[in-house]
Amino acid sequence: MDVKSRITTSVCVFFHHVLCNTGHGSIFALQSILWRKNIDHVTPPDLGRLHSKGKAFTHTIHVVLHIFTAELTVSLPLSTMGYFIKGWCFVAFVAIIGYLYRDTFDPESLANAKVLVTGASTGIGEEIAYHYSRAGAHLLLTARREDALLKVKTKCLKLGAKSVSLAPADMASSEAREKVMEQAITAMGGLDYLVLNHIGTSPFEMWDGNINYIRWLMEVNFLSYVHLATMALPHLTESKGSVVVLSSLTGKIATPFTTSYGATKFALDGFFWSLRHELAMKNVQVSITLCILGLINTQSAMEKVKDKIAMPAYPAQDAALAVVSAGTSRVSEMYYPWYVRPVCFVRDWFPQSRDWMIQRSYQQASDEKH
Ligand SMILES: NC(=O)c1ccc[n+]([C@@H]2O[C@H](COP(=O)([O-])OP(=O)(O)OC[C@H]3O[C@@H](n4cnc5c(N)ncnc54)[C@H](OP(=O)(O)O)[C@@H]3O)[C@@H](O)[C@H]2O)c1
Repeated sequence: MDVKSRITTSVCVFFHHVLCNTGHGSIFALQSILWRKNIDHVTPPDLGRLHSKGKAFTHTIHVVLHIFTAELTVSLPLSTMGYFIKGWCFVAFVAIIGYLYRDTFDPESLANAKVLVTGASTGIGEEIAYHYSRAGAHLLLTARREDALLKVKTKCLKLGAKSVSLAPADMASSEAREKVMEQAITAMGGLDYLVLNHIGTSPFEMWDGNINYIRWLMEVNFLSYVHLATMALPHLTESKGSVVVLSSLTGKIATPFTTSYGATKFALDGFFWSLRHELAMKNVQVSITLCILGLINTQSAMEKVKDKIAMPAYPAQDAALAVVSAGTSRVSEMYYPWYVRPVCFVRDWFPQSRDWMIQRSYQQASDEKH
């Protein structure tokens, strides 16, 4: 191939890749814009239509982009067929990945769903309750503060929830958990989604040897999840429902200052992965979704990490939507925001460099603070 054809080919292949990649990026961006547009004003059926319109619109853009890039590639001389085939292999690869990771969330399937959300008085739990409300679900919300729950209930009803019951309870108490589950089944007549989201207060500090504290945190952040899921299983089996578990990147990769919190999240990962295997082996049609979240801008998280780590915090409303969507699509694991999946993927590739980087970044932050 002469130099001129070589340059033409490279330029065309370059544009092909750029257009495909920006195309996919803009498709995701458009989907998210369409989804959020007027989100506080739409009724539940509108929500479904908005979502389908978003999908149709972005798929059209997708097709146009591919025709356009194909035009570029087809105009290449025959001697460059190798690049042409390579280009299409790349497109096929992207298309397969796109298909595997396609958005299968259908908000209409949540109309009349019976949902129990824990830790719903604030933060991500509160936003989760609002998303289910927009879709027209029945809700039972629990946390300790009744006044905060009442405010959330009022907004949920405004957004379109079919019914909202409250069960103020401390998840450290086994009896309180039993009452919450009883109340949920009585109030809603069954259960489709159990969203386990609450967490006990944990400081962002070095381990101080307080065994009583870690025992309490295990009860609130881990054992209560196991207890609630166990009580819910017969009802979820009947409805072919789902358990949605809020976990963290700290439950996949250990970081300093989170010994107790991290331990509870690692424990959730182990228990619920194992339980998922057992349910599949028994052919029980209950899905378990573990949501692996990075830093989210809830008030409690921001207060905890301020001055200590320099990381972008992502919006709680978007994190909550990702949680609801993942639970509805019955995926095993959901990662939010975008960087969490690649970080988990490469976790064990370079362990020494990883640990060095983690310790250095936390050290720097704590040095700057002092
Ligand atoms: N925010 C982040 O950066 C981040 C990152 C990764 C993972 N996550 C996960 O996302 C979930 C929500 O986090 P968040 O930041 O939204 O938390 P948050 O704002 O601190 O909210 C915690 C919720 O749990 C409730 N709660 C606390 N102690 C309780 C107890 N003993 N019994 C019952 N309820 C209790 C709180 O309400 P009351 O005070 O009224 O009881 C509140 O509704 C957690 O599982 C967390 O691990 C968060």
